Amino acid sequence: MITGYGHFVQLAESLQWDETELDLSVDRENWPKLTEAENAKVLGLIAGFVIAETSVAGQLGSFQEAASCDDAMEATFRSQARDEARHARFFDLVASDVAGVPGATAAARRAVLRDQVSSELADLFEHRLPATAERLAEDHDGLTAAVGLYHMVIEGVVLLAGQHAMLDALEGLSVGLPGVRKGMELVLRDERWHIGFGSRIVQSADIGPEQAASMLEQGETAAKVWGDLISAESIETAMKQHRRRLKASGIKFW
Ligand SMILES: [Fe+2]
Ligand SMILES: [Fe+2]
Repeated sequence: MITGYGHFVQLAESLQWDETELDLSVDRENWPKLTEAENAKVLGLIAGFVIAETSVAGQLGSFQEAASCDDAMEATFRSQARDEARHARFFDLVASDVAGVPGATAAARRAVLRDQVSSELADLFEHRLPATAERLAEDHDGLTAAVGLYHMVIEGVVLLAGQHAMLDALEGLSVGLPGVRKGMELVLRDERWHIGFGSRIVQSADIGPEQAASMLEQGETAAKVWGDLISAESIETAMKQHRRRLKASGIKFW
């Protein structure tokens, strides 16, 4: 196994940010001025991020455990878990403070937003990912396959496509949401190193053709969980990047 995960921890350290320091005052003021279509799109994406980030933040423990033979890799999963927890807090903050989603706790707000996401998205984050993490807890040899789903498919395809769609949507709004935009950019910056970290793990593993085909196929299915919140064109771009990333990790499909 290739070592040298240490630099990811240093990178994560240098990229730390605090969601409570973002200025959301203009966003709060402008939110009610969004058109109905703008509101539906932005809130739909936020709902997806709240469900997704809460789920990913909760699943990294098994990854950390499975990497316990490599101190640097284990520490990197720990750094990532800290990022994901912050992302979950950021999206919940936007939901409660900007979009005014009702609920006294994050869990209560999540329950409200849960109705806004597709059953495919809910299934991916509430069933498939937890089941994969559970399998990993029982069998640490499944780390590469689990990283294939978590880092390559979920982060590399589903979340990245959603984050790009959100940045595009924010760009085209009739009023600005500058605090949300700033937070999205910071989330995206974190996600880039998470995907780089996952790619490195996949690269250092011996991936057979079957596992490679499964990662590609999972990407194709998962890219569709956003429904019409993401254009077919954006999904195609995300899949192209997914293929390129897998290829760069030494995986051959053709
Ligand atoms: Fe995240
Ligand atoms: Fe991430």
